[in-house]
Amino acid sequence: MKLKDKILNRTARIGVVGLGYVGLPEAVALAKIGFTVYGIDIDKRKVKSINAGKNYIEDIPDEDLSEAVKKGKLKATSDEKIIKTLDVVTICVPTPFNENKEPDLSFIVNVANSINRNFKKDSLIILESTTYTGTTREILMGLFEKSGYKAGKDYYLAFSPERIDPGNRRFTISNTPKVVGGITKKCTEMGRLFYSQFVDKVITVSTPEAAEMVKLLENIFRNVNIALLNELALLCDRMKIDIWEVIDAAKSKPFGFMPFYPGPGVGGHCIPVDPVYLSWKAKEFDFHTRFIELAAEINSNMPYYVISKLFRLLHGKPLNKCKVLILGAAFKRDISDMRNSPSLKVMDLLKNEDVNYIYNDPYVPTLDGMRSVKLTEKLLKSMDAVVILTDHSAYDYNWIVANTKLVLDTRNATKEVSKHRDRIVKI
Ligand SMILES: NC(=O)c1ccc[n+]([C@@H]2O[C@H](COP(=O)([O-])OP(=O)(O)OC[C@H]3O[C@@H](n4cnc5c(N)ncnc54)[C@H](O)[C@@H]3O)[C@@H](O)[C@H]2O)c1
Repeated sequence: MKLKDKILNRTARIGVVGLGYVGLPEAVALAKIGFTVYGIDIDKRKVKSINAGKNYIEDIPDEDLSEAVKKGKLKATSDEKIIKTLDVVTICVPTPFNENKEPDLSFIVNVANSINRNFKKDSLIILESTTYTGTTREILMGLFEKSGYKAGKDYYLAFSPERIDPGNRRFTISNTPKVVGGITKKCTEMGRLFYSQFVDKVITVSTPEAAEMVKLLENIFRNVNIALLNELALLCDRMKIDIWEVIDAAKSKPFGFMPFYPGPGVGGHCIPVDPVYLSWKAKEFDFHTRFIELAAEINSNMPYYVISKLFRLLHGKPLNKCKVLILGAAFKRDISDMRNSPSLKVMDLLKNEDVNYIYNDPYVPTLDGMRSVKLTEKLLKSMDAVVILTDHSAYDYNWIVANTKLVLDTRNATKEVSKHRDRIVKI
């Protein structure tokens, strides 16, 4: 049977490589609509957990995963040899930067080698990891070509950026449009057909490079706009204007404006990392991406700003005598992801100044040998300051403010609190 028919009648065997925030929800979504899905991950704990029907990603309903495993529709493995039997393989492995802030493509290269060793003709291979433009063609196609396989003829190759937004209940895999661009028209068409099975709207672009750039544009757009708001927040602080009030009023404009918000910095695996991928690649073209560099400078300065504001508020009390409670370690609301979280930087800076700090995060029970403390009235009252770095919805902000001397709110999380507003300072 041809690949197209196998996709249409859902007998195609699917592999999802990398079972993290991106890969696992996709694997479960595919299993749910009847495909047999193999999740492939080098992390044996994840493989064991999935095969035991145990979920570890907040966005996936536990029963969806356990049901898929029980029905034999989702299986996890660390054995790359399974790739030989698969009709479609999506690649969802990390794309971090190294200590010199250069792209680290080693995860993609490793998966490309695994696929190359276990190559199956007439299969569809799609890279979903965010990366610089040219990766799909240079790394994947380049390698398979050396082994004698021609894209569009012996197999199909495409890039399709992942747009998952952990913690977002409104936009999920199925109702977030998916973009796909293949090496040839046939590759694009095969990618479109595959995603149409579980995504409501699929948009095709002419090349993998265009699809790679779409993702970079989306994340750079976000990064630069957050930086703009962070800069304006610093100015408004100096001018004694409430930036949050300004944004709220500005967003009443029904056209030509889109709200972004300041905060303690940017975090996660995407917003602070992806722009670096593009600026690195741009240098190959003798091009300096100045907006990206400026945004990185402004955003990475925000944890320092939070600390200096906090120290000002503590009115010269010796720092090693100050007790500070940090609320939120995750990089954004209602998730556990701490990668590149500005909270980590703020805590680091507090440690450097010998401040006596503790933290609470309902999603992050332990951190660097510390435990998330239990929030009690007694604990709050004993603190010199509480710093809100992540605006988790589980927090009772009225109760927190009512029991704290001073709240430094970096997210406008206390906007609905009406009593004791004199205790709240916002950035
Ligand atoms: N997290 C997000 O919100 C998000 C959103 C859009 C795009 N992305 C992009 O998607 C990609 C994956 O991100 P993530 O957050 O899911 O990462 P993650 O770290 O949560 O998951 C990646 C998984 O890949 C596995 N892995 C690494 N090397 C492997 C190999 N050789 N074979 C098999 N498995 C391997 C890891 O063990 C891990 O479980 C990144 O490029 C990221 O930029 C992430």
